[in-house]
Amino acid sequence: MKGRITPTQREVRLTDDDLIVSKTDVNGRLTYVNRTFMRISNYPEHALLGRQHNVVRHPDMPRGVFRLMWETLKAEREFFGVIKNITSDGDFYWVFANVTPDRDRAGAVSGYFSVRRAVSTGAISAASGLYAQMLEVERRAGPATAPEASLAWLRRTLDERRLGYERFVLGLYNG
Ligand SMILES: Cc1cc2nc3c(=O)[nH]c(=O)nc-3n(C[C@H](O)[C@H](O)[C@H](O)COP(=O)(O)O)c2cc1C
Repeated sequence: MKGRITPTQREVRLTDDDLIVSKTDVNGRLTYVNRTFMRISNYPEHALLGRQHNVVRHPDMPRGVFRLMWETLKAEREFFGVIKNITSDGDFYWVFANVTPDRDRAGAVSGYFSVRRAVSTGAISAASGLYAQMLEVERRAGPATAPEASLAWLRRTLDERRLGYERFVLGLYNG
């Protein structure tokens, strides 16, 4: 496994036609990536399949967002999020992601499926402001409780705006 990638300040922008698709097993290991995923993240297929989906995790993303993603998926619901990812060269790209459980014929969850598309600059600035504050909460909480602490902070902040997470995030997407 490669060591951590050093982030750059270069942004890779998706066009409105770019759809990044991936599938994982129930543990989040990649089982399928489309060509757009490979082109934008700058990995060949063999370097992705079998790896954990955190291969594209950017250090600017708070752990609380992924805690919420996995809580939502384990509850067998779909997750929406504005996510900053990292390429193999350290560049970053922002996406609006939809992640859903995949089911087998018997209806049991057999893995997860994700589609990501371009997101507006307004949504990026709203999300990055919140995420910077969540990272600060995580730094103060320390590693053991960081994800719970920043997720609780996010929920309180949205409560104050009288917004549930899903309405907030879909509002970002719809501008
Ligand atoms: C279908 C699916 C898609 C995912 N997409 C992303 C993604 O685009 N970026 C990301 O950082 N994590 C994504 N994740 C979450 C990762 O599995 C992981 O929880 C996250 O990167 C945090 O990594 P860490 O737990 O090692 O800190 C996805 C998970 C699933 C199941």
